[in-house]
Amino acid sequence: MPALDSSILSVFLLAGDQPVSGDRLAKDLGVSRVAIWNRLERLREEGFIFKASTRKGYILSAIPTVLHPALLDAHCVRLKISTPIEFLKETDSTNSEAERRLANGQEAPFVVLAQTQTAGRGRLGRKWHSSDQGNIYLSLALRPFISPEKLKPLTLWMGLVLCAQIEAQLEIKLGLKWPNDILSPDGKKIAGILTEARMDADTVRDLIFGLGINVTFSETIPAEIKTVAGSLSQVTGKSLDINTVTAQIIKTIEQAWEDFTEDLWINRFKDYWSRYDILTGKTVTIHLRGQPTTGVVEGIDYDGSLLLKINNGKIISISSGEVSLADK
Ligand code: BTN
Repeated sequence: MPALDSSILSVFLLAGDQPVSGDRLAKDLGVSRVAIWNRLERLREEGFIFKASTRKGYILSAIPTVLHPALLDAHCVRLKISTPIEFLKETDSTNSEAERRLANGQEAPFVVLAQTQTAGRGRLGRKWHSSDQGNIYLSLALRPFISPEKLKPLTLWMGLVLCAQIEAQLEIKLGLKWPNDILSPDGKKIAGILTEARMDADTVRDLIFGLGINVTFSETIPAEIKTVAGSLSQVTGKSLDINTVTAQIIKTIEQAWEDFTEDLWINRFKDYWSRYDILTGKTVTIHLRGQPTTGVVEGIDYDGSLLLKINNGKIISISSGEVSLADK
């Protein structure tokens, strides 16, 4: 009965360090004391610790370190998240799972969230390390029916909002490397975005916003990833609760998408860009149709394309690609 677990955990979250009595829980949730006792036992097996208090009742004193559907749900209720969340222990890729569900007619929007992925995908055909349970792998599935032209700045907007929200929530500094990498102050990749779309005539029928965020790396992280990627726990120097962080991230992307569709993003975009962009004024190399092109970043144009001043002084506009910094 996961809904009951979620309601029980909501009461504990709200109570903080105040004891919650079993009797009270049973009365408030309209179930028997035995049902509450059984659920508490089950939750204990899943990593929760409820300490008996001398002031009558229990205090929630430890939670699981991995995503837990009922705990996540309790946070989502607290944050008033309305998008349904499909929680999976494991999938190939949350983007692929979202794509299949959209193709099968599932009503959108919805979020697919997985504890691990067996075939996590990154941009430009790369793999996304997805075996660590301490990270976030999720996809927001949408049916926007908007022109592809109008959707062009979306990924950039979502990345900027995520920088702003995570910074505010965790009191850290982050930067955005066009088009969609969220970096730590020492230039390590903390998060990446993979947006995929299916067109119908000249509108986008299905849109999948895929997001991978490194929250806490395990000890077994491959060395080649360690050198280029970092995690939010490393940046904050604290251990973070994956369920709280995930719920906040889902709330953020839900709100950012709503602001985008209601055209409420335009005014905030410029300010966010000036705060989080790390490329303007820097010399970069970008591969255009396989050819490396070097230039100085001048900024972005109205649709989010990168403006690059190349050797002959000409400014070219680039809509996609991988940028490497020459003067890191
Ligand atoms: C990148 O920086 O190359 C984008 C990485 C995107 C990874 C996320 S994890 C959740 C979603 N499912 C996938 O297979 N990929 C995205």
